[in-house]
Amino acid sequence: MVVKQLEMNTPLTAKDKPVNSFGDEFLKPQTNGNMVAKHGQYAKYSDPAFTEVDTSKEVVLNTYPDGTREGRIETTTGVPLKEYNASMWDEDFFRKHILKPRQPDEAIERARVMDYALNSVMVGFSILMVRYAILPVWYMGQPTMTMVGQMNIEAEIGQLEDKQCKTVVWRGKPVYVYKRSAKQMRDVEETPMSALKHPETDVARFPNNRLLAVCIAICTHLGCIPIPNEGLFGGFFCPCHGSHYDASGRIRQGPAPLNLEVPPHKWVNDETIYLGN
Ligand code: FES
Repeated sequence: MVVKQLEMNTPLTAKDKPVNSFGDEFLKPQTNGNMVAKHGQYAKYSDPAFTEVDTSKEVVLNTYPDGTREGRIETTTGVPLKEYNASMWDEDFFRKHILKPRQPDEAIERARVMDYALNSVMVGFSILMVRYAILPVWYMGQPTMTMVGQMNIEAEIGQLEDKQCKTVVWRGKPVYVYKRSAKQMRDVEETPMSALKHPETDVARFPNNRLLAVCIAICTHLGCIPIPNEGLFGGFFCPCHGSHYDASGRIRQGPAPLNLEVPPHKWVNDETIYLGN
């Protein structure tokens, strides 16, 4: 991310003369065996004279992309636009972007640590930017927690199988929508009021869409989440202290004092419920 480009200030020289790498500005320079041996894949950016140059103090930093010559080496420095030709070979460019002085190992290590530290600072800075500059803007479009606590929602429940339970989160609370089987319906309808700790008829709890029980899934004892299809009465069971609810969510056995609360709701259609007032 952070590249410190060290530039060379002195021209490459061969035998005390500046190297004119690419005399022919339109033709790709010739390479030969010596050049390839010395410069490998970069030989094509050199000329025969270049093989005489002592590059032991330099290392290859970047590479030119492969492909057609056009656009491979681009220079506009000192070239009037009308004379600009993208296929020009330019040694200054080569020196500036391809070579850099070879550094001693500890300098490389220092540069690496520095690079790491700068990267860490930049990452940290980016996280802070997101936290303090971007998130607040995003939050502006979001409902506040107070609004969430009072919101009514419409939820698509879909077709449920017998004894299938779906959970909808409403005002921060889990709400079970539970499909009772024919046998469960018979049981809850035939249960005498005298058997109930908190007497309520099933039809009073769920006057519409009778097969679907809708209860807030919070145990009325100390607030655990009851488990559907468990317990002695085939409805809901709270394992925290052993409260058994029937398929209507009515407390039948255990320490819970009240039936599971039925949230205010109405059915928009057979598969869509509206929770709230
Ligand atoms: S919290 Fe459910 S039984 Fe105690």
